[in-house]
Amino acid sequence: MNVTFRQLRVFRAVAQHLSFTRAAEELYLTQPAVSMQIKQLEEAAGIALFEQVGKKIFLTEAGREMYHYARAIDQQLTEAETVLESLKGIKHGRLVIGVASTVNYFATRLLAEFSRRNDGVTISLDVTNREGVLALLETNDCDLVLMGRPPEELDLTAEPFMENPLVVIASPNHRLVAQRNIPLSELQQETFVVREPGSGTRIAMERFFAEKGVQFSTGMELSSNEAIKQAVQARLGLAIVSLHTLELELEAQRLLVLDVERFPIRRRWYVVHRRAKRLSPVAQAFKSFVLTESHALAELPSLVQNLKGAVL
Ligand code: PGA
Repeated sequence: MNVTFRQLRVFRAVAQHLSFTRAAEELYLTQPAVSMQIKQLEEAAGIALFEQVGKKIFLTEAGREMYHYARAIDQQLTEAETVLESLKGIKHGRLVIGVASTVNYFATRLLAEFSRRNDGVTISLDVTNREGVLALLETNDCDLVLMGRPPEELDLTAEPFMENPLVVIASPNHRLVAQRNIPLSELQQETFVVREPGSGTRIAMERFFAEKGVQFSTGMELSSNEAIKQAVQARLGLAIVSLHTLELELEAQRLLVLDVERFPIRRRWYVVHRRAKRLSPVAQAFKSFVLTESHALAELPSLVQNLKGAVL
């Protein structure tokens, strides 16, 4: 069968997303270019790999078989790349990092310092939510991920490197800002703006309230921490966010942290990779850097110094 790696890579992306448009976006190609690669691959294979039902596309049985092999070939290629990288050493390596959106406030500081110390290293950074970084690990599309605690059933190595306290924020003229040790039951009167369902912050918030038996009402759902903060400033409700996302707003007093009992929710960030992954020297160096240096680079607003609250 006369196929190219490029065709396989395009096929893998289309099969993963079941969408020519999303595959084209991911690969920075036009949609006709993606369709052309798939057509050529199907011709070379001599059998249809996709079928269209209504507006949706699906893999045929042959397509599912091909997907299995395309992923295996891709993983072998990535492994070959890692081995070659390790022969080049850390001086000219490439580092592919996936970062949960909440961690990105801090991760850019880490990456900046790491690249200052290792100026031959090229870094590629993918910022997405918890669900997204778990998918990156699943498809082996990154060296390391920085995120909240990953699920235990996955075959991953996860080492904690930083506290990630989640706090309740309000606009400065909210009725609760002057109150101390606000009972959790008070929050039942309030509306919360929340992150999207794939967000680690959202999952932690829901778990915390469920454990404490607190019913809360949700208003708007927004898919970024920045949008959440804007919504709280616009008095659309309260929200629960990582303290790391708040540096500027607290300084400018555009938002305030409420003093609620059992808060902050104490989470931690982890540096994560697949257990079987052969880390390149650059990835290994970055992992050690995160574990040993991140504390010195953290500039959490001062209320983190005397953390109390619930551990999740
Ligand atoms: P996010 O954060 O998915 O809410 O951005 C990741 C996490 O804290 O797990």
